[in-house]
Amino acid sequence: MRVEKGIPTSLEKLTKMRDQARAGGGEKRIEQQHAKGKLIARERVALLVDEGSFEEVDPFVVHRATDFGLDQQKIPGDAVVTGYGRVDGRLVFLFAQDFTVLGGSVSEAVGQKIYKIMDMAMKVGAPVVGLNDSGGARIQEGVDSLAAYGGIFLRNVLASGVIPQISVILGPAAGGAVYSPALTDFVFMVKGVGQMYITGPDVIKAVTGEQVSHEELGGAEVHATKSGVAHFVYDNESACLQAVRRLLGFLPLNNADDPPRQEPADDPERRDPSLRTLVPEDPVKSYDMLQLVYRVVDDGDFMEVHQQYAQNMLVGFARMNGSPVGVVAQQPMVLAGVIDIDASVKGARFVRFCDAFNIPIVTFVDVPGYMPGLSQEHGGIIKHGAKLLYAYAEATAPKVTILVRKAYGGAYIVMGSKHLRGDVNLAWPTGEVAVMGPEGAVNILYRDLLSKSEEPEETRKKLIKEFKGKLANPYIAATRGYLDDVIDPAETRPRIVKALNMLQNKRDTLPPKKHGNIPL
Ligand code: HXC
Repeated sequence: MRVEKGIPTSLEKLTKMRDQARAGGGEKRIEQQHAKGKLIARERVALLVDEGSFEEVDPFVVHRATDFGLDQQKIPGDAVVTGYGRVDGRLVFLFAQDFTVLGGSVSEAVGQKIYKIMDMAMKVGAPVVGLNDSGGARIQEGVDSLAAYGGIFLRNVLASGVIPQISVILGPAAGGAVYSPALTDFVFMVKGVGQMYITGPDVIKAVTGEQVSHEELGGAEVHATKSGVAHFVYDNESACLQAVRRLLGFLPLNNADDPPRQEPADDPERRDPSLRTLVPEDPVKSYDMLQLVYRVVDDGDFMEVHQQYAQNMLVGFARMNGSPVGVVAQQPMVLAGVIDIDASVKGARFVRFCDAFNIPIVTFVDVPGYMPGLSQEHGGIIKHGAKLLYAYAEATAPKVTILVRKAYGGAYIVMGSKHLRGDVNLAWPTGEVAVMGPEGAVNILYRDLLSKSEEPEETRKKLIKEFKGKLANPYIAATRGYLDDVIDPAETRPRIVKALNMLQNKRDTLPPKKHGNIPL
C-alpha cells in the first residue's frame, strides 16, 4: 500500500521538475528569444537529431553558487541542455546552450554537464555537436566559470583528431568563449543570429575609437569571407542544422571507424566524354573546376567547405562509389587558382582533418604556383605556404591526385604529388609539369637572345612553343614514374574509383615522435 501511494507522489515530483527544466528561463524569456528571431535550445535539439532519439542527460543539475542572488535562480538543468541522440541513425552527442537561463552563461555546473557528454563521446567514439548561444563565462561565479571553460578547452584539444567536433554559433560567442568553437573541426554560423568576437563593439570603441556593429565585427558573413573562422554559413537555423546533419553523413564516428558508406545511384564505371572539352585550349583561359568535381563524384553531390573563403582553393566532401572522400582542388576562375596564404591554410586544415579520420583525399590540380607579391611575402607566404606542404606530406590516408592542367614549381610538389607520398597520380593529356610557366621560363632562359632579336615577339612565340613541346606536358613526368598514367579525361571517375578500391586497406606510418612541428 505504502509503495503504491509513494509512486504517484514521486512521479508527480519528477514530472514537475522535468517541466521546470523544459521551461528553461520561463515563458517571458522564451518569448524574448523568439522575438529576436532565435529558436530555444530544445527546439534546436529537435531539429538536429532524428525524431524521438534524444536522450537528455543531467536535466536536474543546478548551479551551486549562491552569491549575487543566484540562490534565487536555480533552474533545473542550468543554462545548457546536454545529451545524445541519432542523426540518420548514427550516434551523436550534443550540448545546446540555453540563452533563456542567465544568458546561456557558463557556470561550473554548465561546464560539468558539457564535460560529461564530451568524456562519454570520447569513450564510445562519437561526434560532439555544440550549439552555442551564450554570454560567456558566468560573471557571478568568477574563477569557477573560468575553470569550467578551461575544462571544455582541454577536452576540445584531447578530442581533436579522435572524434569529429562541430560548433554551431546561434547567438553570441564572446571573449575567451570563442576558443572552444575555434578548437573544433567545423564552425557553422547563421546570418544575423550568431556572432563571434574576442572583444565586443563597446570595448573596441573604448580602446581604438572604431565604431562597428556586432554583425560587422563578428557576424557570419565576416567570418565566412574574411577571417575564415566560419566554414559554413546559412540564412536560418533550420537550414543550418540540416546542413550539420548532412556533414555528419560524410564523417566517420571516430578515428578508428570507417567513413560511412552510402549506396550510390551513380555507376562507378560512368564515363563522361564532356570532360574532354572542359579545359580550354588557350592556357590562360579559365574554366570552372566545380564542374569537374560535380561530374566526377557520386550523383554530383559535393558539400563544399569554406565556400566563400579563399575561393582559389576548393575543398569539400563527396562520395566515390558510396565512400566519402575529401576533395581538394584549385579553382582556375579565381586568381587563376594560385596558392596564396589563405588558400594554403584552408587546404592544409582540410587535408589534416581528412587524414586524422582516414578519409581519402582526392586532389585535382591546376596550379600556376604560389602567389607572388610584397603583401604575400610580408604576410608570411613562406611559413603559411609550408602548412599545405606539411599537411600533404604528413597525410597517410589514401591520396589520389589528378593533374588536370598546370602544375608549376613548388605548387606541383605540394598538391598531392608522388614526392609527398601520393598513392595514385594520374594526368589528363592537358597536364603540364614544369618549374615555371613557359612564358616566364622563356623570358629567363632566352633573355639575351630576345633582346638581340629583330622580331622579339615572333621569336618569343616560337620559343614558348618549343618549350611547351619539350617540357610543359605530362609525358616526361610519366616516363619517370612520377605520374602513374596519362588518362582520357572521360575515364576520370572510373579510374579514381578503381584507385580508391585498391587503396582501401592502405597502411602507412610516420616515424615515432611525440608530434611534429607544423609551421604555425
Ligand atoms: C551572467 C549573463 C552573462 C554572463 C548575459 N547574462 N551574459 N549573466 N554571466 N556572462 C544575463 C544578463 O544579465 C541577462 O540577465 C540575460 O543574461 C540576458 O542578457 P541580455 O544582456 O539581456 O541579452 P542581450 O541584450 O541579447 O545581450 C547579450 C550579450 C550581453 C551581448 C551576450 O548579455 C553581454 O554582453 N553579456 C556579457 C558578455 C561578456 O562579456 N561575457 C564575458 C566574456 S569573457 P537578466 O536577468 O537581466 O535577463 C568570457 C571568458 C571566457 O567569457 C573564459 C575563457 C577564457
